[in-house]
Amino acid sequence: MRYLMAPDKTPSAWFNVAPHLPEPLSPPLHPGTGEPVGPDDLAPLFPMALIGQEMSADPWIDIPGEVIDILRLWRPTPLVRATRLEQALDTPARIYFKDESVSPAGSHKPNTAVAQTYYNKAEGIGRIATETGAGQWGSALAFACQLFGLECFVYMVAASYHQKPYRRVMMETWGGQVVPSPSDRTQAGKAVLARDPDTSGSLGIAISEAVEDAATHPDTHYSLGSVLNHVLLHQTVIGLEAKQQLEQAGEGLPDVVLGSCGGGSNLAGLALPFVPDCGGAQKARTGGGGSGPRLVAVEPSSCPTLTEGRFEYDFGDEAGMTPKILMYTLGHEFIPPPIHAGGLRYHGDAPIICNLVKNGWMEAVAYPQGKVFEAAVQFARTQGTIPAPETAHAIRGAIDEALAAKESGEERVILFNYSGHGLLDLAAYDAFLHGQLVDV
Ligand SMILES: Cc1ncc(COP(=O)(O)O)c(C=O)c1O
Repeated sequence: MRYLMAPDKTPSAWFNVAPHLPEPLSPPLHPGTGEPVGPDDLAPLFPMALIGQEMSADPWIDIPGEVIDILRLWRPTPLVRATRLEQALDTPARIYFKDESVSPAGSHKPNTAVAQTYYNKAEGIGRIATETGAGQWGSALAFACQLFGLECFVYMVAASYHQKPYRRVMMETWGGQVVPSPSDRTQAGKAVLARDPDTSGSLGIAISEAVEDAATHPDTHYSLGSVLNHVLLHQTVIGLEAKQQLEQAGEGLPDVVLGSCGGGSNLAGLALPFVPDCGGAQKARTGGGGSGPRLVAVEPSSCPTLTEGRFEYDFGDEAGMTPKILMYTLGHEFIPPPIHAGGLRYHGDAPIICNLVKNGWMEAVAYPQGKVFEAAVQFARTQGTIPAPETAHAIRGAIDEALAAKESGEERVILFNYSGHGLLDLAAYDAFLHGQLVDV
């Protein structure tokens, strides 16, 4: 059962969670001086409008008309009730998912790529440098840059560049230029190659290269696909639409909201608009009163940032060039094992997500990839579509919530983010279906 919205109901403002957080966010610190960074420190990398959003305390931020026009190429996205999955699980729970896989790039990432490119263009920037893991973010940004007439230069983690050529081809089709990272185009890349010429790379290394590229080219800015406050802000269209669509479906608030968590943007996009409704629920579990949705982050047990990381200031990249941010982290030099959910292989997490987890307003669970792929295949065999390995983490979490509801005989309403399709991840399915997928 699909719940569609009229295009004119697309949200016209983003929801800023900052004024609703359990405690204020701590400022990012300058990598050299250790002092809080100000707008001028960030100006070589980002347009002022995005720096403003990064630090804004305004509860709502208007979405520019030109951005809305492009988002309407695929938004509003459907809310789907997974009735066939419910039947297969024989659960009294009602399971809904927000289908972000219908975007041109096949994931939620274009929601922020379009907005970021718009503000860069408005500031006269002609070229954007970025990193990408498995290629979801790079392809979203290449698409957005093409629509606004900007050049897009992508440092793609070497392991994925060689193993997953199709996302590179997508980026090139949208006019992007792609090199494997580490590369010899940057000092950061050269230093890693000198230490380990055969390295498979990591997101942290690719970020160092893209930041250095932007800092050393005056016409170039840097763009990040997750973690930062403004990125999470742009994704809130997902949850704002979902709230309207749940109402259309005759539901009140969901009992639980889940998303996979790499840097935190798709989870935040769906969950943050529910934060004002659920502070009470979180307090209830820590001894207060109240009711409302539980928010749940699902991460890989091989990169267990929220469930096992330390809460401290750390760099966002490998080389220590970015500001330090307060977050759960496995350490900026941590190179996660090469699991198939490339987009979840990040040592840190969004400060907003970490703030919610640390204060007990959001829960976190971790799964090994074997259990995640079991869920992915069960979903494909009931609902039809084949999810991205990252998305399959949220599906695993949702299935376990539905099974818990069956156990307790509860009518639970479960909402999760279907963050992307897996049609370019079939090698991972091949490995799982033929017994070659290992839990690392
Ligand atoms: C389909 C999909 N889902 C989830 C993620 C995880 O990123 P985030 O936590 O920022 O949503 C990615 C990242 O590449 C992705 O491509």
